[in-house]
Amino acid sequence: MNTLLHIRQLNKHFANGRHALRDINLDVARGEMVALIGASGSGKSTLLRHIAGLVAADGATQSLVEIDGRCVQQGGRIHRDIRQVRSQVGFVFQQFNLVARLPVLVNVLVGSLHRMPWWRSWMRIFNAQERALALDALARVGIADCHAQRASTLSGGQQQRAAIARTLVQGAKVVLADEPIASLDPESSRKVMEILARINREDGCTVVVSLHQVDIAMKYCPRVVALNQGQVVFDGPSSALTPELLHALYGVQAEELLRPAGPTGPVAAEGASVHVLPQPAVVSWATRPAKAA
Ligand SMILES: Nc1ncnc2c1ncn2[C@@H]1O[C@H](COP(=O)(O)OP(=O)(O)OP(=O)(O)O)[C@@H](O)[C@H]1O
Ligand SMILES: [Mg+2]
Repeated sequence: MNTLLHIRQLNKHFANGRHALRDINLDVARGEMVALIGASGSGKSTLLRHIAGLVAADGATQSLVEIDGRCVQQGGRIHRDIRQVRSQVGFVFQQFNLVARLPVLVNVLVGSLHRMPWWRSWMRIFNAQERALALDALARVGIADCHAQRASTLSGGQQQRAAIARTLVQGAKVVLADEPIASLDPESSRKVMEILARINREDGCTVVVSLHQVDIAMKYCPRVVALNQGQVVFDGPSSALTPELLHALYGVQAEELLRPAGPTGPVAAEGASVHVLPQPAVVSWATRPAKAA
């Protein structure tokens, strides 16, 4: 496996005693598109924030997070060169995280700040080449005509597409998307997921996307990692995620994941085999459908 994301022995206890991540070990190959699923509170956001180096893991363990061979955090300490590593990581949030009063183009240009001398980034002086790159990224996500509008005037789906354009301008090797469609209507959700799938396919960008809905995960992501109470309870092809397996893994909470998010139809893939496992079994496929970049 040409590993891009390497996680070992990741544990997190919050100050209130909550054990939010339990011994996470995970490798994601370059160019994979992986869905992170799990009921509310299962640890999806916490895991993504650890991967981005926004939160440090417990200090007592030999935890390790690496992106493309570079350390994000180790043994509960964020690496001192985290800004450099983070420049390779595009983060897409449920709430878009754009600067509302700034034009869309400027929001997207923020993705190129890490390549500029400090004085240019401080004064937000962008050259013609950078502007062209940002316009191109907006065209790729289908909202070039909105480039001069304030971000606050865009629809939710358009704002999320602008946030993805920002990661394109950034040249991110990996996009971590935390419930990017949770606030969107079905049509906008479809567009956002298709854009994520396209940058994965066309740019070889590795995508890890947390989702509440299994039907969306199955449609767009060949591999699914399922969390329950901070633990990986399934890691394998999304086609294997039948309602029966989800019920075995999550009990009544499975209904939350099985609720269709949009017009994408039934959750179970026809003919998919059924695996019923005692909790907290971890299902792991040795031969994952890893896509080469
Ligand atoms: N800063 C914090 N302090 C204390 N507990 C926290 C903190 N952040 C998260 N938690 C707890 O850790 C657990 C995992 O939370 P997390 O937000 O990662 O879940 P999630 O899977 O993203 O849920 P959702 O689907 O609702 O977004 C939850 O029990 C949550 O209450
Ligand atoms: Mg979350």
